[in-house]
Amino acid sequence: MLDEIPRIGLGTWKNKEKRSCETAVETALDVGYRHIDTAQIYGNERHVGDGLEASDVPRDEVFVATKLWNSNLTYEESGKHQDDAVMSAYRSRELLNVESIDLLYVHWPAEEYDDETLEALDRLHREGVARYIGVSNFTPELVREAKRKLDAPLIANQVEMHPLLPQNEMLEFADDIGIDVVAYSPLGRGKALDLPEVQEVAEKHGATPAQVCIAWSIERGAKPIPKSENPERIRENYGALELDLDDEDVEKINSVDERERLIDPDFAPDW
Ligand code: A2P
Repeated sequence: MLDEIPRIGLGTWKNKEKRSCETAVETALDVGYRHIDTAQIYGNERHVGDGLEASDVPRDEVFVATKLWNSNLTYEESGKHQDDAVMSAYRSRELLNVESIDLLYVHWPAEEYDDETLEALDRLHREGVARYIGVSNFTPELVREAKRKLDAPLIANQVEMHPLLPQNEMLEFADDIGIDVVAYSPLGRGKALDLPEVQEVAEKHGATPAQVCIAWSIERGAKPIPKSENPERIRENYGALELDLDDEDVEKINSVDERERLIDPDFAPDW
């Protein structure tokens, strides 16, 4: 079993279709990825599970992460309520076809998220359903509070991060309290690939813009999870691990001054 989040993961948001999702997971594992990220709301946990099953890579060499959706954050000690955090996590575990979920996140600090959610997560950890706990889209204050209240180990905050949203404060905060930043949409859903700074660094290294965005994210201490359904891009993105950016390259991308948060629903916290 892995006790650290691998440096790069496969994102599966919007990869809903059975064949495409299974193939993406299988391809990623074949190429070398050891971290697969999904969520209850993506509607593909079963397909991710099937992809894991189809792969030759042993299950205990893969870090599997999912997220409790906003409507599944209550806690009923009786365990009879289908929508509560405990029952829904058991369901995710079944769909993923794993003995334990390596990293179980709260997807958003929204709706009924409160201390009871954290109690449910502690219980899921005690019962072996979740090996580690994560939060996602949390502000530093909310992360600090959750970490203080949880008995189970909180190891990551998953946030949107790319050259148009570099998350400097969050990285510093995470480093201070000893958790990882998992970077979702590290390509800015494709928007960061057209930035001249990114293209310049890519040309310098004979790499692709996507590889540069991913390598930049790793270089700054985050754990990116680029999403792709395309086997060639899945392979290309993994190639970012071979790309060694120097300080000048990182600075060049840090110098992008345009800012854009791409995922900002009504229920998001006050960033
Ligand atoms: P696809 O799944 O067809 O490959 P992000 O992870 O920042 O949210 O970006 C995901 C988007 O970027 C998806 O639309 C994905 O499309 C596309 N994408 C993923 N990898 C690459 C790549 N190497 N080059 C160009 N686009 C990519």
